[in-house]
Amino acid sequence: MPSVVSYGRAPEVRACGYCHLPTGNGRPENARLAGLPVEYFIAQVKAFREGTRKSFVDGRAPTINMTKTAVAMQDQEIAAAATYYASLRPQSFVRVVEAAEVPQAEIAGWLYKFNTVAPRQPLADRILEGPEDFTQFELRDPDSRYIAYVPPGSLALGKRLAQTWGDHQELECSSCHGPGYKGKDQVPGIAGRSPTSLVRQLYDFKSGARRGGQSSEMDKVVKYMKNSDMLALAAYLGSLAP
Ligand code: HEC
Ligand code: HEC
Repeated sequence: MPSVVSYGRAPEVRACGYCHLPTGNGRPENARLAGLPVEYFIAQVKAFREGTRKSFVDGRAPTINMTKTAVAMQDQEIAAAATYYASLRPQSFVRVVEAAEVPQAEIAGWLYKFNTVAPRQPLADRILEGPEDFTQFELRDPDSRYIAYVPPGSLALGKRLAQTWGDHQELECSSCHGPGYKGKDQVPGIAGRSPTSLVRQLYDFKSGARRGGQSSEMDKVVKYMKNSDMLALAAYLGSLAP
């Protein structure tokens, strides 16, 4: 593990492992890095550094801290981190559950904390994702598991959309993201990622907040994508093995 991953470099470069974890599995508020193609990885860090990849949400702390880190990184540190994370096998720690009624949840930092004692509440049209064990999550245990509650029917709808996207199915996701959506050449894998982080990417592409890299390839994909499409796609893709 390169020292930029385990220690970072004071004062500005934060250890990648602090947020993305040493295993590269990441957490819902950031991104899974394990198994990402090297060139894609480097292009993304440069996009943060150059200010072309931002969050739609102004002042979103995790993205701001990522950006500060990217600005301070040297090219050889980016390359070392990219090579290390590319060598790791991506895993999934999220269970996607269709449910109309879900636990109540409070906002804790940048995530939801489930309250399993209070009566259940209606989910409506949203994804509610959080750690199964909040203490374990706060301790940054790389084996922390998550549940993502999604509306009933999301998985089947998401599967259909993923396989047929585009007027003539020409934008179906695996054409670029590879068989099983596990990534192909320099296109990242999107199977088995945190559903909320997937939605955030789609929303950021569509709003124009996320540019740089090869984002123009995704522009045509998200052009007519509704929020409800994003929700279903993220639910389905998040439920797959990476
Ligand atoms: C403070 C937490 C934090 C630290 C520390 C951090 N990152 Fe990130 N990183 C993020 C967040 C948040 C995102 C994505 C935000 C989003 O898209 O919603 C991200 C995204 C990325 C991505 C894009 C992944 C993708 O699939 O698009 C790469 C690559 C990356 N980080 C590399 C690094 C490297 C290398 C380091 C260490 C030098 C590092 N990060 C340190 C929070 C962090
Ligand atoms: C024409 C090729 C193409 C098609 C079709 C396509 N993608 Fe992508 N996708 C890409 C590329 C290239 C990237 C990397 C963009 C970048 O460099 O910023 C990407 C990135 C993404 C990301 C961000 C991943 C990350 O690591 O942050 C998500 C999520 C995504 N695509 C979802 C989808 C979904 C869902 C579909 C099908 C509805 C789809 N894509 C169809 C080319 C495509």
